[in-house]
Amino acid sequence: MSAASPTIIKSVEIESKMPEICDRLGSGQCVAIPTETVYGLAADATHGIGVASIFEMKGRPSFNPLICHVDGIDMAEHYADIGDTARKLADAFWPGPLTLILPLKDGSKIHPLVTAGLDTIGIRCPKGIACRVIEVYGKPLAAPSANRSGRISPTRAEHVQAEFAGTQLLILDDGPCDIGIESTIVRASADILEVLRPGSITASMLEETLGIRVKIALPGSKIEAPGMMKSHYAPNTPIQINQTICPEGAALLAFGKQDGKDRSGARVIVNLSPSGDLKEAASNLYACMKELDAAGAETISTEPIPATGLGVAINDRLQRAAAPKES
Ligand code: TXA
Ligand code: MG
Repeated sequence: MSAASPTIIKSVEIESKMPEICDRLGSGQCVAIPTETVYGLAADATHGIGVASIFEMKGRPSFNPLICHVDGIDMAEHYADIGDTARKLADAFWPGPLTLILPLKDGSKIHPLVTAGLDTIGIRCPKGIACRVIEVYGKPLAAPSANRSGRISPTRAEHVQAEFAGTQLLILDDGPCDIGIESTIVRASADILEVLRPGSITASMLEETLGIRVKIALPGSKIEAPGMMKSHYAPNTPIQINQTICPEGAALLAFGKQDGKDRSGARVIVNLSPSGDLKEAASNLYACMKELDAAGAETISTEPIPATGLGVAINDRLQRAAAPKES
């Protein structure tokens, strides 16, 4: 049997291959897409398995929030509350390399793995083929850079192909990216704009458009990468992780089969994946934590999750949830 290898679709063939591209996205698979900044590893931002597949393919050790890509401001409005300042910026710079951090809309269908459980969402409208795919697919795509964790971002389809050799990833090839560094990330409120990640849209371009001062977040400051904060998604109920015996009256986050574990003390049990599938577990994590937090128990007890593959990110997230709250 020959080894799996990625399939490359050249830009001229992309229109005719849209049904296949949309089928893959709709069934929770990743597709690598070119943007004007870097190639992205995209999945349907409302599809739990799709989003979990991004983390799995990248081998990301933690669930940082992902940028959600839309085909324009109308689609963005379904998922985020867009204030006047943000609207001006979107009008001026979309489609383009500007990501806006906005309040997540109530009842939004964005999967919580995309926002890492935050109540904000990073959203941008990319140029070119990526925008066209989103328009045809009709739903937003979550996409970090299409490289394995800790490696540099790909700016050509061949880079993506080399990163994911041995997989069946579909890669849309539109040649080299124009910009080659990731988008500028800003958080906009009425009178202040914070640049959380510098990019090709500079602070002075933003100041000129809005006529207000721009604050630049210093590297390492808390607002830069909320996913890196030790305790950033913590339920109100205290958590004990890695337990094989559930304490009396606890709300239990189970994983896999019961095997040697004692679940008899549990007041309520939610299983991340009864079959022990890490992708399914990752996609259920935030929803399960919220459910257990609402159960009114004194503690949430979590069973051990294997620290392999996606399990590394799941354990990272559970450790953050169990860490003492930061003030
Ligand atoms: O150019 C780009 O932005 C590329 C292409 C593919 O579009 N995408 C990209 O995505 O760089 P990613 O997932 O690597 O960037 C995610 C970063 C996070 O590390 C975080 O700093 C920020 O975006 N971010 C996302 N959502 C956020 C949120 N709700 N609050 C604050 N920062 C957020
Ligand atoms: Mg990256």
